[in-house]
Amino acid sequence: MAIFVNEKTGLFQIITDNTEYQMKADKYGVLKHLWYGEKTGYDMEYLQNYPDVGFSGNIYDAGNDRTYSLDTLPLEYACEGVGDYRITGISAVHSDGSCALDLRYKGYRISRGKYGINGLPAVYADENESETLEIILRDKYSNIEVTLRYGVLPKLDIITRCVSIANNGNVPVILTKAASLCLDIAYGEWEWMHFHGRHTMERVTERSPLIHGIQESSSKRGTSSHHQNPSVLLCSPDCTETSGSCIGAVLAYSGSFKTQIELDQQEQVRLVMGINPELFRWELKPSEVFDTPEVIMSYSANGMEKLSHNFHKVIREHVCRGKYKLAKRPVLINNWEATYFDFNEEKILGIAEQAAALGVDMLVLDDGWFGKRNDDCSGLGDWFVNEEKLCGGLGSLSKKLNEMGMKFGLWFEPEMISEDSELYRTHPEWAIRIPSRDPIRSRYQLVLDMTNPDVREYLFESMSNILKSADISYIKWDMNRSICDWYTPCLSAENQGEMPHRYVLGLYELLEQLTTAFPNVLFEGCSGGGGRFDAGMLYYCPQIWCSDDTDAYERTKIQYGTSFFYPISAVGSHVSAVPNHQTGRITPIETRAVTAMAGSFGYELDLNTLSNEEKQEVSEQIVRFKKYSELIHNGLYYRLSDPINGKFAVWEFVSEDKNEALVHGVIFQTEPNRTQYRIKLRGLLPEADYRLEENGEIYKGRALMNGGILLPKSWGDNFPVQMHFTAEA
Ligand code: DGJ
Repeated sequence: MAIFVNEKTGLFQIITDNTEYQMKADKYGVLKHLWYGEKTGYDMEYLQNYPDVGFSGNIYDAGNDRTYSLDTLPLEYACEGVGDYRITGISAVHSDGSCALDLRYKGYRISRGKYGINGLPAVYADENESETLEIILRDKYSNIEVTLRYGVLPKLDIITRCVSIANNGNVPVILTKAASLCLDIAYGEWEWMHFHGRHTMERVTERSPLIHGIQESSSKRGTSSHHQNPSVLLCSPDCTETSGSCIGAVLAYSGSFKTQIELDQQEQVRLVMGINPELFRWELKPSEVFDTPEVIMSYSANGMEKLSHNFHKVIREHVCRGKYKLAKRPVLINNWEATYFDFNEEKILGIAEQAAALGVDMLVLDDGWFGKRNDDCSGLGDWFVNEEKLCGGLGSLSKKLNEMGMKFGLWFEPEMISEDSELYRTHPEWAIRIPSRDPIRSRYQLVLDMTNPDVREYLFESMSNILKSADISYIKWDMNRSICDWYTPCLSAENQGEMPHRYVLGLYELLEQLTTAFPNVLFEGCSGGGGRFDAGMLYYCPQIWCSDDTDAYERTKIQYGTSFFYPISAVGSHVSAVPNHQTGRITPIETRAVTAMAGSFGYELDLNTLSNEEKQEVSEQIVRFKKYSELIHNGLYYRLSDPINGKFAVWEFVSEDKNEALVHGVIFQTEPNRTQYRIKLRGLLPEADYRLEENGEIYKGRALMNGGILLPKSWGDNFPVQMHFTAEA
């Protein structure tokens, strides 16, 4: 049991293996937040402070008690318009135009298992590994009822939250904000870390002390974006990888989001996370319910490494779904950087033949196989084969690949439309645009209106036909622009504010339909690389192309940032050609391989262009990846260095039984006449003896963890490191 309720005191406790979450409904029915941190097993209300603070509102039922203010109390789900001037979780406009909500406690429900959310991704778990708590709040003055839902996976130290808002009245209400998470932390000093970036440089870590007022990371792009990720970390100033307190929150949502953190006048912290309210206005008609997306949370008293382990496990095992979630992923060869749009069947078969000979499992045919798609100006939406390039069609190509012992995968960009396409000529009204204005183009393309059921039906039919026309084992689902021009003829003028969220719901509906209809197909997400790398997409696609930047040096940083929340199996990562197409940098092929192996591995170049020595290396790399893939994907991941600020990137995978460890890394620059770098391993058995495969030497686990090991002497820049340790029986 993980959920405990004391009906006398109103205390709710959610207890996981190492953490505890507490809240309490007080004498006014206000649901106060008491605690999220280490297990205390004790009612933490004694920590609450009731200062008399000027200019803070007092609820009417507190009479003349100036010390009772929603502006200073830690609350579980803060509302607009009740004298709490901090950021709030919910805001609604009533039929008279007023917009206050005064949510008070009504009741609770506890059930076995983990709740699901209609039409939205959510953590799933068996009844014997999870529980659900629902706390029902009701507006004191209207018929709005809000259910706060908590899912608990005690063994994983994971708590999820989402909110359902019901209109039990007989007039519509307009929701202008409906956050998934509102978390007050009334104690301690905190810093925050978020993940920012741009196309080809995603999820760069940035950690800063909180400033008084509001700090935010958000997206208004219709997707979770390259620029900010819907994940955040709050940590004590002394927090490191292995010590100190931290709280992590990941929004399982692929659309525009907002994460805000406020440090208030009382030095208290409030974290609010959810759909971006700047692009949200939702009419809640009588009897309707609005469900927010889910936030996945965890707390660690032992630094960020433990937090990452919790998130890796929950996302890999309880968010990702389908046949491939835990299965070994095929090693891919993708033709994009090898050919771009300039290919035909012969060229593709030539690439495949060489790849097959070196041990690659699957060829992925990227952009350009359909419609009139010879560059990025045309063809999107025309999901039928370009027979000029592929004269025998996909059936013949997949057959020839199968004969080589290779599987076949295919690229789509379903949500997009080119103006120069059959689809646009037939259905211009399916492209998103504001009727009285010219649309905004990006990469020359427009976006399809995913809120329109006809669009979704067309996509389902056309993609299904392609999937049935050949032996296709994989789909890369790309999305290459941000969205604007929010307008759809499917909604009335007053309800256009629903479109951004309805777009995401439409996308999820189509993904659900396709993944259900084609359960044997591996779906890989992509948005110009990692522009939609979020837990929402991972519910449908167990791996996502991490970045269009395939430069191994830069990838160490991108993958470092990605690793704080997302499991290694989710990271699509390929070896590409040098000079690198994004940076012009030349790195050794082994460095590119070692870096790409920290993910779901593949190649993205024409292997025919390599020398015989390099080809030999490639075939050895594939054997090595296959040998270690279980350890890489199922093992615990340790960030042994900080590549953003350090001179090298080193990371480690350790099997759950701790008998095996793989250390990978890149030493960025070689300097003559200096001592070798030393790195301390983590997560080993202190008393075990470990044999290092590369030199046959034996080392004590305790020594490797306390004294470390010398990294090999480097030669040249971006020098690769790989050390494989196994415990002696
Ligand atoms: C962006 C992706 O990230 C690339 O890998 C490639 O698929 C291109 N789109 C194709 O247009």
